[in-house]
Amino acid sequence: MSRSAHPAGPRHADVLPEGHYSAPPADLNALDPKVWAQTVRRDEHGVLTVGGIDVKQLAEEFGTPAYFLDEDDFRARARAWRTAFGDDADVFYAGKAFLSRAVVRWLHEEGLNLDVCSGGELATALSAGMPAERIAFHGNNKSTGEIRRAVEAGVGRIVLDSFQEIVRVAHIAQELGRRQRVQIRITVGVEAHTHEFIATAHEDQKFGIPLAGGQAAEAVRRALQLDGLELIGIHSHIGSQIFDMSGFEVAAHRVVGLLREIRDKHGVELPEIDLGGGLGIAYTSDDDPREPHEIAKALTEIVTRECESARLRTPRISVEPGRAIVGPTAFTLYEVGTVKPLDGLRTYVSVDGGMSDNIRTALYDAEYSVSLVSRPSDAEPVLCRVVGKHCESGDIVVKDAFLPGDLAPGDLLAVPATGAYCRSMASNYNHVLRPPVVAVRDGEARVIVRRETEEDLLRLDVG
Ligand code: LLP
Repeated sequence: MSRSAHPAGPRHADVLPEGHYSAPPADLNALDPKVWAQTVRRDEHGVLTVGGIDVKQLAEEFGTPAYFLDEDDFRARARAWRTAFGDDADVFYAGKAFLSRAVVRWLHEEGLNLDVCSGGELATALSAGMPAERIAFHGNNKSTGEIRRAVEAGVGRIVLDSFQEIVRVAHIAQELGRRQRVQIRITVGVEAHTHEFIATAHEDQKFGIPLAGGQAAEAVRRALQLDGLELIGIHSHIGSQIFDMSGFEVAAHRVVGLLREIRDKHGVELPEIDLGGGLGIAYTSDDDPREPHEIAKALTEIVTRECESARLRTPRISVEPGRAIVGPTAFTLYEVGTVKPLDGLRTYVSVDGGMSDNIRTALYDAEYSVSLVSRPSDAEPVLCRVVGKHCESGDIVVKDAFLPGDLAPGDLLAVPATGAYCRSMASNYNHVLRPPVVAVRDGEARVIVRRETEEDLLRLDVG
């Protein structure tokens, strides 16, 4: 059961498999539907379109860099998750992947719940009208102010992450005359990233309460005793960008083992189990994510089987996909500024954004695809590295990519699958302004998060 793991994000980490870039794709103009949002096409002039609008027009109207989000695709993916799990389970979209008020409204309309992990995300959710009972509040160090706001608002669940927090939430709830529905996040010793997982991972990380050493069982015992809390279930989140379902299998086995222990010790069958998020998407053509209905079927079967063998009633399942819903729905559009061939090495292509709008390549060695999208090209493929405009050599957007040899300043490049953890992790490094998010649907484009301005920067700098 023990296999090696990569850090979040990269499939190949630093070591590209042999021949990884020895063969450029047969057609550089082709768009692999796996990595692009659903309505993306090339029009009759070879220009990329999304939601029926071409990128030259989008660049002119909204500028670059910018994230363009395919609203129909977002809604379709949200609905697919909702339908796959049906009425006997709950889907919580993980807002950390990308959250805005428009997104909250779409989720509400499509019948999803929302996982927030900070006061800021909670405020965004509430201000866009997400009913509080459909919100789950996460985090390993929620402040008392955040907890108070969440309890007052009436959030559907708070996911407790430590012994201190069990007491803190109980106390605040009691003070407010409430009984707060809670889950306890446990760590089951499973760590999964990309295609691999470790089933016996040691618990050397900050989230949750370890199952090992009876700590999780003790947390449950304490939570059951506190009047301010209604313990509704156990939560487990095992990692990111996961393709291999066997990590969930081990996690479910261990969570159900705890449920059985709770029943045997306390005579209580907890009604819910949350298996977290972490389901992978295709960043490049090498990745093969599963469809939501396959994931739902697999998870439901795993939990049902485990509960049957433990003679427990099958609890209501919830999941928290973030990346798998929003990741594939957006691409980042950049303009090429300089093209610098380095003899015998590769060509460096500088774009007008970089690590401030996509930190994932620098942080996780994440792999991305990239295409020339403002025109078609028959030029020979050239091995390139797409880099940003920041004062840092690690400012890489796409580490290894083949682009047409006639690439020139003014061309538009698009990097697909940047809907998750790009805008939400964007920074102002070098005082570069964070790009807007533009939602496109049925031939209409509208800004849902506007571009940052120099006035925004200077407003925070009080001089
Ligand atoms: N639920 C919990 C409790 C989580 O901690 C996370 C992610 C999710 C759900 C959603 O995971 P997703 O389905 O989006 O993979 N910044 C990293 C990812 C960090 C994820 C943290 N927790 C990245 O860019 O890959």
